[in-house]
Amino acid sequence: MKILVTGGGGFIGSHLVDLLLKREHVVIVLDNFSTGKRSNLPLEHPQLKIIEGDIRDTDTVFQAAEGCDAIVHLAAVASVQASVDEPIGTHEVNLVGTVKLLEAAKQHSIKRFVFASSAAIYGNTEVMPVSESTPLSPLTPYAADKLASEYYIDFYRRQYGLSPAVFRFFNIFGPRQDPSSPYSGVISIFMQRTINDQPMTVFGDGEQSRDFVYVADLVQLLADAVEKQNPNHLPMNVGNGTQTNLNQLLDLIRDFSGKKLAVSYEESRLGDIKHSLADNRAVCEKMDYHRQYPVALGLRITYDWYLTKSESSI
Ligand SMILES: NC(=O)c1ccc[n+]([C@@H]2O[C@H](COP(=O)([O-])OP(=O)(O)OC[C@H]3O[C@@H](n4cnc5c(N)ncnc54)[C@H](O)[C@@H]3O)[C@@H](O)[C@H]2O)c1
Repeated sequence: MKILVTGGGGFIGSHLVDLLLKREHVVIVLDNFSTGKRSNLPLEHPQLKIIEGDIRDTDTVFQAAEGCDAIVHLAAVASVQASVDEPIGTHEVNLVGTVKLLEAAKQHSIKRFVFASSAAIYGNTEVMPVSESTPLSPLTPYAADKLASEYYIDFYRRQYGLSPAVFRFFNIFGPRQDPSSPYSGVISIFMQRTINDQPMTVFGDGEQSRDFVYVADLVQLLADAVEKQNPNHLPMNVGNGTQTNLNQLLDLIRDFSGKKLAVSYEESRLGDIKHSLADNRAVCEKMDYHRQYPVALGLRITYDWYLTKSESSI
């Protein structure tokens, strides 16, 4: 198949590109490299074409999609804080960009459309675990745009016969996640600080938990969704149905790094949610999703990657 991956130079996108190429597909990456990196991609691969361009640009999007059999739409301003600081700019990317991709799919008769939504659309729900029928409460422009994107995708399904697979990602982690932003995934920040022997700050008592998914498990699911007919047009949670709290993460990192970590605890930040846990029965049943990487294993691989990266940059 010929597959357009928007945001293919990013953390998740680049792992997906690797897997799609391994499965012998032709891959077109459309990315403006605002947070993604060319160095994440196998630039010399004969089945890979990279288009440096912006999903806000209609012509670029239409040209990129031409001749494709499927679109995986991952490009977004993935920082919730950026969406709060700059709602107009992020909306142009996170919602209007999605609509442009949908129009391109319609124009080129592309049925298969895989979309990265987010658990952020549930807001600060107290319901545990969070199922797809948990009331939605998007609290930020980022979450509002993800939810509106879901509604647009459903419109194109009903109106034009699009065959979408929409996944609400919980906390994804793994190699290539960029720790440079304070709003990055907590694991990437912990990893980098451990390797650089820097102190770490935990806001609250460290008992706050998340449902962490190792990136290789996620991209396997995304690649399957591209290749197989999705029997479920409803959005599906992608978590593992297990909670890991920050203190447990730190213990695991202590174990395999052999380092004493300097951790200080400060007052919780306003609006931080205490626990997040996915009910993932839908994705397991409909998509035959099986986790292959428990958190401890994924962490270990990720740590080794950050270590190699820091050694190669010395
Ligand atoms: N990482 C997570 O835990 C998580 C959780 C929920 C949802 N998501 C979603 O998954 C997707 C991928 O996230 P990620 O963590 O890999 O983030 P990322 O920032 O590494 O990837 C986003 C990619 O989109 C590209 N991009 C941004 N704006 C663009 C534009 N205007 N035109 C073209 N390309 C553009 C970036 O350069 C980058 O390569 C995003 O849609 C994000 O919202 C991620």
